[in-house]
Amino acid sequence: MNYHSIADILHNNHVWAAQQHQADPNYFESLSRGQTPPYLYIGCSDSRLPLTRFTQTEPGEIFVHRNIANQVSLTDINFLSVLDYAIAHLHVQCIIVCGHYYCGGIQAAFEGTTTGLVDSWVNPIRELYLQKQEEIDQLPSREAKLNYLAELNVELQVKNLYQTSAMRNALRSGSAPEVRGWVLDLHSGRIKDLNISTEAWYLHPSCPTSQSLLESRALNQGSNTNVSSVPGNLQGIRK
Ligand code: CO
Repeated sequence: MNYHSIADILHNNHVWAAQQHQADPNYFESLSRGQTPPYLYIGCSDSRLPLTRFTQTEPGEIFVHRNIANQVSLTDINFLSVLDYAIAHLHVQCIIVCGHYYCGGIQAAFEGTTTGLVDSWVNPIRELYLQKQEEIDQLPSREAKLNYLAELNVELQVKNLYQTSAMRNALRSGSAPEVRGWVLDLHSGRIKDLNISTEAWYLHPSCPTSQSLLESRALNQGSNTNVSSVPGNLQGIRK
């Protein structure tokens, strides 16, 4: 790969900004007024994953948090503040947890040979691997094992989202965003929706809203309310 120099990067930026301004003189004025992004994206720090490029989305559409192996850490103040801001202030409609195949963090967790801070950071994924080792090790190739661990990791991180106070507060107030679990396949450039069901987690008995959610779901079904525009895993939450 030919890498751009710093001078190239700055030059490209100035050219791009001029083109944007020419195409729409209000473009940057509009951006500078604030943001109301519908999405929060939690992804890996990997340099090969610029989501805006892969999804052809525009500045202002996606609020972003990235770390090694796209983890939803319950002790990371950086992540938790991003999540809280996205839910309570930006009122994002959807949270996307996006893993990817060929992830160095997943490989490190799988091999268990990394040392230092990265090893500590990916330890929850190492534990996940050890929990599911029998199932994972049956897969025919190393690539298949790593890909499956990447998918299991996304599922775990989606589950972790429902353990955060930001998410629980949103559930209590009936304003919880939808949550999606994706993996991006760098080999094809395509995103795969893992179709992770979140019902089991937001209806956990320890969540005080569980009973009221079940009741509102029964009401919706009983009254034949048209909820077809509401994503499947949110039916009963959004009214
Ligand atoms: Co990665």
